[in-house]
Amino acid sequence: CDDRELVVASNREPYSHAREDGELTVDRPAGGLTAALDPVMQAAEGTWVAWGDGDADREVVGPDDAVAVPPEDPSYDLRRVWLTDEQVEGYYRGYSNRVLWPVCHLDIAKMTPREEFWREYRETNADFADAILDSTDGADGDPVVWFQDYHLSLAPRTVREARPDAFLAHFWHIPWPSWDVFRACPQYEALLDGLLANDLVGFHTEEYCRNFLDCADAGTDARVDRSSGSVSYRGHRTFVRSFPLGIDAARQADLAESDAADEWWAQFREARGIDPSETVAVGVERLDYTKGIPERLAALERFWEENPEWRGDLTYVQKGTESRSGIAAYDALQDRVADAVERINDRFGTDEWTPVVYTTDHLPEAGIAALYREADLGLVTPVRDGMNLVAKEFAAAQTRDPGVLVLSELAGATEQLGEESVLVHPYDTAGFADAIGEALSLSRAERRQRTADLQRAVHAEDVYDWLESTFETAAAIERGRRSVR
Ligand code: G6P
Repeated sequence: CDDRELVVASNREPYSHAREDGELTVDRPAGGLTAALDPVMQAAEGTWVAWGDGDADREVVGPDDAVAVPPEDPSYDLRRVWLTDEQVEGYYRGYSNRVLWPVCHLDIAKMTPREEFWREYRETNADFADAILDSTDGADGDPVVWFQDYHLSLAPRTVREARPDAFLAHFWHIPWPSWDVFRACPQYEALLDGLLANDLVGFHTEEYCRNFLDCADAGTDARVDRSSGSVSYRGHRTFVRSFPLGIDAARQADLAESDAADEWWAQFREARGIDPSETVAVGVERLDYTKGIPERLAALERFWEENPEWRGDLTYVQKGTESRSGIAAYDALQDRVADAVERINDRFGTDEWTPVVYTTDHLPEAGIAALYREADLGLVTPVRDGMNLVAKEFAAAQTRDPGVLVLSELAGATEQLGEESVLVHPYDTAGFADAIGEALSLSRAERRQRTADLQRAVHAEDVYDWLESTFETAAAIERGRRSVR
């Protein structure tokens, strides 16, 4: 973005401050995206605007609500947006996670549209827009602003009105549904109006791009040009492109081979009574109803039921991270998973063997990499998922005896990784149970071949490739624009 000011805006912040026993600590939320954007921001020396939700976040900011990060070598500003309790309830828990999240994941029955959710969402988006505009005041030239995800659909319109010549891009990290689903959301037109203030809107897959173009066509009076993948609306043209998000595959492979991974696995196995001779399947995710965890446990139960010879041998390790607690659908899911684990363990477990080893503990990155590396099966079977980076991390971490990726046909990652995986439909319990058997029966040569292909894919289209394609596309749009001016 030449020498223009770069602003990234996201709901979650890349660093949060807390106090532990009086000591100020800095937490870097683990997560591919924040980890990948951080070096970009360090190089660009721009501003990252995000919700300051750390206990000690207010203590460290200057009068402009910004703190220089990374703490060890400050090079860019993290500008915090403060949310009231009503905003957290209405914008974050409410509109973002009880309206947009279920609609985009095709679960309209879970949608809870309330007037106050929408009001707080609008107000919070306006607050984000103000913070973005304040942080670019006085900068040379027009800024480049890169919005992340579904929390910030409306902010681009406000920024566009104040800075008509800014370059605005938005990446939507979750699925974009078809028009007949999206229209269930009463504010569809306002959401599209916000997003169409961007110059570039990115999605993980071509299918989501097509859905978005259909929604723009049906839900607004925009002119949609499917051949160029663009939308003309209110005198402005927005390009819609797919950029499948990747991971830092090289780093994942290094983590899997680290001493920390070896040590963690030895301790975990010992503590949880997993015998080295056992075959291990693994699932790693936030406890979200989109991840298909109860459906997966049902398939495993069916598998043990129909294949008694695997009882005592196939152990399933489920790492679940508590997420969005306090929202009824999430609380219910946490209970449902815990109950299913208990029931299965009561039914098949013995003194020597626990079928499902379940943990909600925080695990270090090296521990997660060790779990992937040791697993014979990686079960990544969401009922709906924008992309799913766990599938990619699992593939990258197969540095030893290669395990098999069992992947849901309803994950975005299937567009890239479907061919080398064993595909399942998460709701087809019988078919899923058979697929587990099939995956377990693959020869070593077959597993090697599939893993080599998967690894080629995740290394070639990694997170750096994602960043590069996004910036290249943005630059091409800018060039095109300048040439017609
Ligand atoms: C998904 C969303 C992210 C979000 C993450 C964790 O991956 O696309 O924007 O940050 O879930 O959810 P949370 O509500 O804890 O931020």
